[in-house]
Amino acid sequence: MADVLGKAREEGLGLTFDDVLLVPGYSEVLPSDVLLNVDLTKGFSLKIPFIAADMDTVCGADMARAMAFEGGIGFLWKSDLESQVLAVEDVKNTLNRKIEKPISVLGSQTKKDVLEVLRRYRNRFSSLVVVDEDRRVVGLVTGDKMQFAGEDSFVRDFMVKDVVVASGTTSVVEAYHLMMKRRVPKLILVDEERQLCGMYSFKDVKSIVEGDRHLYNLDAKGRLRVGANVGVNDLGRVERLLKKGCDVLLVGTAHGHSRNVIETVKNVNAKFRKDYDFVLVAGNVATYEGARALFEAGADVVKVGIGPGSICTTRVVSGAGVPQITAISEASRAAKEVGKCIIADGGIRYSGDVVKAIAAGASVVMMGSVFAGTEEAPGESLQIGGQKFKSYRGMGSAGAMTDNASSIERYSQSVGKMVPEGVEGMVPYKGPVKDIIFQYVGGLRSGMGYVGARNILELQGKAFNRVTSAGQIEAKPHDIMGVKEASNFKG
Ligand code: XMP
Repeated sequence: MADVLGKAREEGLGLTFDDVLLVPGYSEVLPSDVLLNVDLTKGFSLKIPFIAADMDTVCGADMARAMAFEGGIGFLWKSDLESQVLAVEDVKNTLNRKIEKPISVLGSQTKKDVLEVLRRYRNRFSSLVVVDEDRRVVGLVTGDKMQFAGEDSFVRDFMVKDVVVASGTTSVVEAYHLMMKRRVPKLILVDEERQLCGMYSFKDVKSIVEGDRHLYNLDAKGRLRVGANVGVNDLGRVERLLKKGCDVLLVGTAHGHSRNVIETVKNVNAKFRKDYDFVLVAGNVATYEGARALFEAGADVVKVGIGPGSICTTRVVSGAGVPQITAISEASRAAKEVGKCIIADGGIRYSGDVVKAIAAGASVVMMGSVFAGTEEAPGESLQIGGQKFKSYRGMGSAGAMTDNASSIERYSQSVGKMVPEGVEGMVPYKGPVKDIIFQYVGGLRSGMGYVGARNILELQGKAFNRVTSAGQIEAKPHDIMGVKEASNFKG
């Protein structure tokens, strides 16, 4: 079988997803048996090779949390610093074995005060411990009880007084059994003086004791993993995020083969490598030289894709870019030389595109439009003509650049008149992201079965066919009217 990608390189021909198909091969591999775990670096693996894109309509804390629960990871978009720090904290605390410092109020405060406290924590929880002046536990405010109280009612009048407390040394498993027995959603921990010293929440405790922990993407301390875009030249942000336990830093701009990105990678390594454990991703590039330069600067992983995204107009606006299969294949040559790996970012529509991206040399794929519109994607859904939609937009779109300073930096623009490199639109509401991941994992497994790859490493480098326009037509449903949309195919 001719080396389609190598030949295209010699001819200076750029290929993308629909230009190629994987050649089916002898297989003893059952889709259900393939292994999808992949090492981003030595010691940092994902259980499924999927990353949610660092975009303001794709990945905030909810998406990052859901991705890590599924074994992948989400990269938080570069929002204002305080919001991004809170989002990292939010994800890292999701599986908090024990809430070390529960938020508390006094019995003499009012419902109005309580609502203000909850708002400050973005209503992430609805129960607050009630303490006296000496921090001794006297009750619990719960959303259930509070809803019937007037705004000026005192906490002592609507709090639950009969609370279950346990010693501060109670383990998570002991807490689970005690909470099951007493049927309480919160277990307040106290010291010998009955002073507040911690709390367990049943939702967390249950997922730790009963949950599919082996499927989660967890750090060494048992917390969900998360990544974040830190832009360029912002070491203050890097430090704040690392202090909160951020696992992956993405030095990401639209053009990664550039001085700003290279210097930021060097500076981050020089300043933080010895004190913190993190994976440093840099991008985006679309060539061998671009990837090589970022690896040489010290990137652990390089992200690949200039203009393949569903919301991108970079190629039409600037005339620059590389069709994505070729970009992946080129960058992966550099990765192989240094024993590192790349992320294929953008342009994935179907699960088959994931299989092709990995076969072309990627270890992991980043997806925006696939995850946009899910329940966990930021933003409200809206109804149009009886159907639910959510917004999805390019980070270089006029809207994103008007709303976010980081988008202006990412697309090297200056404030004022802008030249957008992305568009804004809507995608149908898709429900929980785990249902989407189920389909993409299923498609990936199926592809690996057809080519006889038992794991991601074996999939990399599998042979491609070139496809003509007739082949492209043949590949999709044809000669049938009124095709119904399937959960993994929209006509
Ligand atoms: P998909 O196809 O998954 O692509 O929706 C997501 C990726 O697209 C990139 N991105 C952009 N590229 N203009 C661009 O040229 C933009 O405004 C823009 N916004 C995002 C980004 O790499 C993302 O992961």
